[in-house]
Amino acid sequence: MGKDYATDSWTNVGPSVLEKLERRLHLQANHPLAILKAKIEHHMNEAEPGVYRSLDSLNPVVSPKLNFDDLLFEADHPGRRPTDTYYVNADNLLRTHTSAHQSTVLRDRSSRGYLLTADVYRRDEVDQTHYPVFHQMEGIRTFDRSQFAGQHMTEAEALAAMGVKDGAKNPIQRQHTPAEAAAVALHLKSTLENVIKNVFASEKGLQWRWNEEYFPFTSPSWELEVLYNGKWLELFGSGVVRQEIMDNTGNSDRIGWAFGLGLERIAMRMFNIPDIRLFWSTDERFTSQFRAGSISSFVPFSKYPPCYKDISFWTPPTFHDNDFSEVVREIAGDIAEEAKLIDEFTHPKTGRASRCYRINYRAMDRTLTNAEVDEVQERLRQAVVERCGVELR
Ligand code: PHE
Repeated sequence: MGKDYATDSWTNVGPSVLEKLERRLHLQANHPLAILKAKIEHHMNEAEPGVYRSLDSLNPVVSPKLNFDDLLFEADHPGRRPTDTYYVNADNLLRTHTSAHQSTVLRDRSSRGYLLTADVYRRDEVDQTHYPVFHQMEGIRTFDRSQFAGQHMTEAEALAAMGVKDGAKNPIQRQHTPAEAAAVALHLKSTLENVIKNVFASEKGLQWRWNEEYFPFTSPSWELEVLYNGKWLELFGSGVVRQEIMDNTGNSDRIGWAFGLGLERIAMRMFNIPDIRLFWSTDERFTSQFRAGSISSFVPFSKYPPCYKDISFWTPPTFHDNDFSEVVREIAGDIAEEAKLIDEFTHPKTGRASRCYRINYRAMDRTLTNAEVDEVQERLRQAVVERCGVELR
């Protein structure tokens, strides 16, 4: 990022992760993550015009203070450990969430809200839905507290209105009146429900639920989950921003809500992308499938290497391309990815026509051996002679 950092005993970030800092997938207009980001931003700006400032280019290297202390993380919170977090050195880490920018952005009181998209980094398990780098969008919305001054509610009424079962476990903050906390929480919930309804607009019978949660920097807090293939998928963490954070950033007169959503989770579902590693693919067969502004379903391709074999023959006048394709399908089956005509000519003296096809052999699930491809190609050569009446050259 154009800056040097000294390493020390905290340094645990390696080259494969550092390399990701420059990719900025969420800023590549035709990338699924950028398409999703634009869709949510567009929806939020229609819902509340002029409220949300868009931020998407903040430096991923932040201090532990910004990532944890300012957000009121306990001193012994496991997230701080170098087993969970990538440290550049003792004073700098790779942000583990977009909330790391809350105190900086809130201090600038120029807007009533913002949407901040960024790459975030976590040391995590290895599977198809986890990757050491992923993307989050954080939303914050603040309100002038004086607008709630005339409203009254008991604590029990407010907890019931916002769907908190146990006010001791998921409390209304003592700095807030029950009425203002409930108003803000209900605004948060309806905003997020509208986001998922918009994002999953094509799905009939979308089901979601709110779970009570704990975050050091919000209270009360919730998680929003949607039902996907019979499993509940967690999409957002959210809640009413802890008033200490508002106070510490010069916003004592305001109250706010915040959410953080994982873009990959939603994009995997929207675009039918089965593996989180695909987002990082530079393979044209992946990148060429997506266009800014459109939601399309990913068409899988093989990760294994191709093996090309050419075949040329003299064709009878009755020959048709599709007859050849049919033989390829029958003999090679699914290991034939493509059969392409690469050369065609008519002999000037004899008037005979010749064609050359290039067959691209590739399996979806393994690397093919040369011997097995040769064997298939040989059978194909025999079969075209028999079925299409061609003469091999
Ligand atoms: N930062 C939280 C996370 O990464 C998500 C969150 C954001 C929760 C804002 C509440 C409010 O898990």
